Amino acid sequence: MRDLFDKIYKDKGPLGKWADQAEGYFVFPKLEGPISNRMKFQGREVITWSINDYLGLANMDEVRKVDAEAAASYGSAYPMGARMMSGHTDLHEQLQNELAAFVDKEAAYLLNFGYQGMVSTIDALVSKDDVIVYDVDAHACIIDGVRLHQGKRFTYKHNDLESIEKNLMRATKMAEKTGGGILLISEGVFGMRGEQGRLKEIAALKEKYNFRLFVDDAHGFGTLGKTGAGAGEEQGVQDQIDVYFATFAKSMASTGAFIAADQEIIDYLKYNLRSQMFAKSLQMQLVVGALKRLDMIRTMPELREKLWENVRALQNGLKDRGFDIGTTQSCVTPVYLKGSIPEAMALVKDLRENHGVFCSIVVYPVIPKGLILLRLIPTATHTLQDVEETLEAFSSIRERLENGTYKRMSAALIEAMGE
Ligand SMILES: Cc1ncc(COP(=O)(O)O)c(C=O)c1O
Repeated sequence: MRDLFDKIYKDKGPLGKWADQAEGYFVFPKLEGPISNRMKFQGREVITWSINDYLGLANMDEVRKVDAEAAASYGSAYPMGARMMSGHTDLHEQLQNELAAFVDKEAAYLLNFGYQGMVSTIDALVSKDDVIVYDVDAHACIIDGVRLHQGKRFTYKHNDLESIEKNLMRATKMAEKTGGGILLISEGVFGMRGEQGRLKEIAALKEKYNFRLFVDDAHGFGTLGKTGAGAGEEQGVQDQIDVYFATFAKSMASTGAFIAADQEIIDYLKYNLRSQMFAKSLQMQLVVGALKRLDMIRTMPELREKLWENVRALQNGLKDRGFDIGTTQSCVTPVYLKGSIPEAMALVKDLRENHGVFCSIVVYPVIPKGLILLRLIPTATHTLQDVEETLEAFSSIRERLENGTYKRMSAALIEAMGE
């Protein structure tokens, strides 16, 4: 018999195998200093394009003041216990009511973490006779929620209407056999490539097929729509979303999340969401902080305007310089380049060391081999000067990528990695 850990000693996994070359620099980097457009990386100031603090709330004086006062009043323990048992308060209820009103739903329920809450909500919404239909590019929290499902599931090609309809047809046949219903899950904004989910078209399919729509709007909440209520508002179909989800980890610049739906659905979920029934309630400091942040999102549209000024400057600037930014329809700004993993490493090092630009890098196996995806997240704290410097830096790294500089610089690495 083998020791359980044998496989771990031999194989660190698809990402872990790069640890020796990457850790501390490409993965697990330490960004230091207050969260803002410019932070410190390894002692050097860098323009930071990798933080989802879309509206710039993370380090605002008045937000930090409320956070600090809440911590002083409640500490980090209060309330103790799960919501159902001893962890329920007026402020939890107030936050839920305000969130529900903001996203135009009857009721809302708080989740401790987005990832865990999504998994748990999917689990609570379906039983084994039901069928799930979801986008192949869905976030890990959707995939893992679907993994818990004991019945049938169908994936459709990313945002592909023909495939969505084909799979709804298959799901309908299956559900007719099992006597179950259908849950279709999409993201409001796909966080890697920035495309919005085809919510409007999906909602229109409700006329032909009987299904419920669940939307993970992590990146849409606070950034899209007239009031910032997200991708459903932006596409004019918020009322067609049966269960709406958003995390506090992005525009709200905090921790926690929520779901919103009709009162009866929330009443059911609050008695059936295992992630909340069997876990301590969201701590008060976060609840009070979320009330403040929500108030700022509601009352300071200028934050969203500044965010979009930066998004437009960055995306138009990149396009004008001939960069491929794919088909983004949100603040998420991908830049696609061609190159190997070692070239990508040399390029990112150049960006950080010589140009003071810090962004996330995505390579195979997350995207196809031979492609490098640099992912930029503009925020309201960025300036047009940040955008200009970054555009200059990108032109420079593209030139060096194309003239083989990074290939030469990475030759040793290529040999070591057997590329
Ligand atoms: C699309 C999407 N859903 C869910 C989550 C998870 O949210 P949280 O960080 O609150 O666990 C994330 C990442 O934060 C996300 O990008």
